[in-house]
Amino acid sequence: SRTAARTVAGELEIGGVSAGALAAEFGTPLYVVDESDARSRARELRDAFATEAGRVGTTAKIYYAGKAFLSIEVARWMAAEGLAIDVCSGGELAVALAAGVDPATIGLHGNNKSLAEIDRAVSVGVGVIVIDSAVEVERVADAAARHGRVQPVRVRVNSGVHAHTHDFLATAHEDQKFGVRLDQAAEFAAAIRSHPELRFLGLHCHIGSQIFGSEGFAESAARLLEAHAGLLAGGEVPELNLGGGFGIAYTTADDPTPIADLAAAIVDAVAGECTRLGIPVPALAFEPGRAIIGTAGTTLYEVGTVKDVLVSVPGENGEAADLVRKYVSVDGGMSDNARPALYGADYSVRLAGRVSEADPALVRIAGKHCESGDIVVYADYLPGDVAPGDLVAVPATGAYCWSLASNYNYLGRPAVVAVADGRARLIVRRETEHDLLARDAAYPEARVGEPR
Ligand code: LLP
Repeated sequence: SRTAARTVAGELEIGGVSAGALAAEFGTPLYVVDESDARSRARELRDAFATEAGRVGTTAKIYYAGKAFLSIEVARWMAAEGLAIDVCSGGELAVALAAGVDPATIGLHGNNKSLAEIDRAVSVGVGVIVIDSAVEVERVADAAARHGRVQPVRVRVNSGVHAHTHDFLATAHEDQKFGVRLDQAAEFAAAIRSHPELRFLGLHCHIGSQIFGSEGFAESAARLLEAHAGLLAGGEVPELNLGGGFGIAYTTADDPTPIADLAAAIVDAVAGECTRLGIPVPALAFEPGRAIIGTAGTTLYEVGTVKDVLVSVPGENGEAADLVRKYVSVDGGMSDNARPALYGADYSVRLAGRVSEADPALVRIAGKHCESGDIVVYADYLPGDVAPGDLVAVPATGAYCWSLASNYNYLGRPAVVAVADGRARLIVRRETEHDLLARDAAYPEARVGEPR
């Protein structure tokens, strides 16, 4: 199985703990994170890129992109596996620092970092700040001067390569908010080099997310290396950061390139381009989030209602065919997984907590929010006897689910439980009614119930 949830003798287990036991102990909805799955993928990425980089005489550093899912515990797993951590806000930085992560291994991103965020990052000594606009060169230099530090920085540029186009068209007019134009790289490097309190590390580019092949990375690297080579005349350019974006399998329809093959192809492309340009191969860096934590997560829900809805779909001969779709409503929804509503993302579902021999029925897993786009799984099959009280599991919810969670309709965000070697432990507790009301300025007088 490609996801952390496995069926053992008919019953669903995650990290050696049965889904039924997890729901009974921690309630639903529940995010379950398989520690060994996340850590082994972190190691796989680290080792694959280190091996390939070593083959061409350089090194590769892997930053875990905390935006995918960050908690103190997860930050510690990544640090323990030798990964650096990429944060993109003061809040994410605070989590990494609370985890005891060495600040020198933290990178700070963001297209609009506040002065306070820059100040804190510089004062604690983060390893790198990614410059995203001209004004940030001055802001970071000022903070570094105030704190008497030399702050390493890189510059985020747009290579014109987009993950979701296959023609890799160079666009002179990049209509998006991140980074600066590639043709501005030299002026940014010069500005940075003019500040003794800044150290220029090199260029950065992130071409997108949920990317299956290596071609986009190779093309982006080629374009960046051309600019990188030009910058060598003005001083050292030790690194090249090619961003994150490695895809995972959400359903059986997805077929991502294995990490080892991806690493080999990307590093080969970099080395080939460096040979062509006659420059040394820089140290490489990558920032995967989803590829590390995505498949490690599973969400458990309890079924509340089941309705048979008659739907009309195009039949084989072009005529409409009627079929029954079971709408299975669960106790969470778009507040714990916004991805289907936001991106039309596909997930799968399976029955957990009991075994059924009933014939499969076409189901749509809906949430409990007050809008019809609140869907968790558009189309999959469950045993036809699925009923209220059943437990269902949605695999591959580790990335961008908890981190994008909301309190829409005043639902409390679910707990997060880590499982490993047959044991489960709470890593983030469930939000209570008190949490939901606590910031309401009128709550103290109107107190409707004591904290539960
Ligand atoms: N580095 C930078 C600069 C990024 O902007 C991102 C993701 C990453 C690394 C990590 O990308 P990953 O390896 O996780 O694909 N919410 C969307 C994804 C947004 C990605 C934002 N940036 C989703 O749920 O699909």
